[in-house]
Amino acid sequence: MTQAAAQDSSSQRPAGVAGVFDRVADTYDSVGVPWFGPIALGLVRALDPHPGERVLDIGCGKGAALLPLAQAVGETGHATGIDLSPRMVAAATTAARAAALRNVDVQVADAGAPGLDEGGFDVVAASLVLFFLPDPAAALAGWSRLLRPGGRLGISTFGPAAPIWEQVDDVFQPYLPQQLLDARTSGRRGPFGSDEGVESLFLSAGLTAVRTVTAGVDAVLRDLDHWYEFSWSHGQRALWECVPEVEREAVRRKAYRVLEGARGDDGAIHLGQQVRYTLGVAG
Ligand SMILES: C[S@@+](CC[C@H](N)C(=O)[O-])C[C@H]1O[C@@H](n2cnc3c(N)ncnc32)[C@H](O)[C@@H]1O
Repeated sequence: MTQAAAQDSSSQRPAGVAGVFDRVADTYDSVGVPWFGPIALGLVRALDPHPGERVLDIGCGKGAALLPLAQAVGETGHATGIDLSPRMVAAATTAARAAALRNVDVQVADAGAPGLDEGGFDVVAASLVLFFLPDPAAALAGWSRLLRPGGRLGISTFGPAAPIWEQVDDVFQPYLPQQLLDARTSGRRGPFGSDEGVESLFLSAGLTAVRTVTAGVDAVLRDLDHWYEFSWSHGQRALWECVPEVEREAVRRKAYRVLEGARGDDGAIHLGQQVRYTLGVAG
């Protein structure tokens, strides 16, 4: 069996986004590439949580934003995390316990219908989540109703990326179904293609004082095999799973050829990425 096939030997995979994130939960954000952490920290900083506030992190994953949010609101505040993937919820719960945070609860819930009290939060965050949802506009409108008047909502999505990302995505393109919801396949088009597009989603959700802040976050991979390991450890796994097992080795070789173009003088692979933070206030 090839290494690629060994990564995905189960023939009974749970379907959909939650299934993908269940399967990455063990390795997600743990392969030596500072990526989700710095992106989430930028969002937390932009939302400026205060001690005593009640915060909600939607699509919390393993807690990249949830844990710093909980630390910021302190023991007089509270942080709730929700995620559709039970294994991500379990990992976030474990991480909160390991950090001795007693002001956190984490639940399995759908971002499209969280089932939480309207007006119950001062801050709602969602880092790298909205583009996975089938109806982002409806989800945002629902999230804004979870805020008290004057509460802050912030999300991170991907802004412009170095051309190398698109060139690598193109290697997968022939295998991808039209409806695949992914940061990149859905992120290049529609509302996620521009600052104004995401801001218009916020405005349609009734949010005010809508603004965008951008930051550069580069993925740095030691070498090509490190990229391969990284690519299976997050949402990009969904792209690999669309490639028939017998073709994965050829796709990997093709991706490696493309990635050679991103090798820096230090020998590492550098993938430049802009992150977009969109922020708004509940009316
Ligand atoms: C790219 S990860 C980001 C996780 C975390 N916010 C972070 O920054 O590391 C996307 C997360 O969104 C979750 N997710 C996707 N669709 C969801 C939905 N409909 N409801 C709740 N969570 C969802 C996934 O399970 C995954 O944990």
